[in-house]
Amino acid sequence: MISLDKIREKSGAVIFGNNIFSLMDVDSTNTFILNMARSGAPEGTIVVADYQHAGRGKVGRSWFSPKGKNLTFSVLLRPTAEIDYAQKITLAIASTLAAAIEDYMQQAFGMQLKLTLKWPNDILFEDKKLCGILTESILKDKDIVALAIGIGININLERTDFPEQLQENSVSLMEIAQKQIVMEDLLAIFLRGLEQDYERWERNNYRDVVATWKQRCLQIGKNITINGPDGRQQVTFQDVNSKGYLIFKTEDGSEHQLISGEVECF
Ligand code: BTN
Repeated sequence: MISLDKIREKSGAVIFGNNIFSLMDVDSTNTFILNMARSGAPEGTIVVADYQHAGRGKVGRSWFSPKGKNLTFSVLLRPTAEIDYAQKITLAIASTLAAAIEDYMQQAFGMQLKLTLKWPNDILFEDKKLCGILTESILKDKDIVALAIGIGININLERTDFPEQLQENSVSLMEIAQKQIVMEDLLAIFLRGLEQDYERWERNNYRDVVATWKQRCLQIGKNITINGPDGRQQVTFQDVNSKGYLIFKTEDGSEHQLISGEVECF
């Protein structure tokens, strides 16, 4: 089970890591933390689980994670922002997390990793998925009461641990490092980074988030398949706008935006 003492000691974070829970088995850390939010849990609350028996992924999928081998956790945010900002906040978290994973690999193994981001919020290593993020919200009118940022990172999985349908497009940190990953150390580095970045984003109204995110995105200008409200379509990835929405061009040259959905490169 994840050691909380180790995380508290190493993260040094004040807000993120102060109110942290480690569970053996839960349906989904996002569901759990959203319930905590309804009961008044403070910003910065973290819920980590060894195992989720109903872990959720994007677009209604389930999230695969065998017991004790991966980091599956949720962070509770209560930003001073309207729901329009939720997408941008998720992009911001993805940038911070990618940087934290790179820092960990440098500190632990002297490895210089270059992770990339795939819209809306996957972290990739050499085009294979290392991490997914699922943001869910509690709203009051247009204001955000709470955001559950759910994060799943493939950590100590061997190739044979991945189910067949994930074999081709997924990778774990252990596969990259060829060594066991200390999950507490990685989580502590992320929480410390989040503490610094979140304070800055809130202060500057999430101003530089999209530009920072785009520095790690390799999809811009490429042909992609989107799976949005109108089904699957082959389009060109034009840009990510100031709200964090995907701007794409269809064959007839017209420009559209996608607020949420799935993207594949081809
Ligand atoms: C994706 O489909 O890429 C998003 C995956 C998000 C998975 C994480 S694991 C922790 C949290 N709890 C969940 O049920 N889902 C998220």
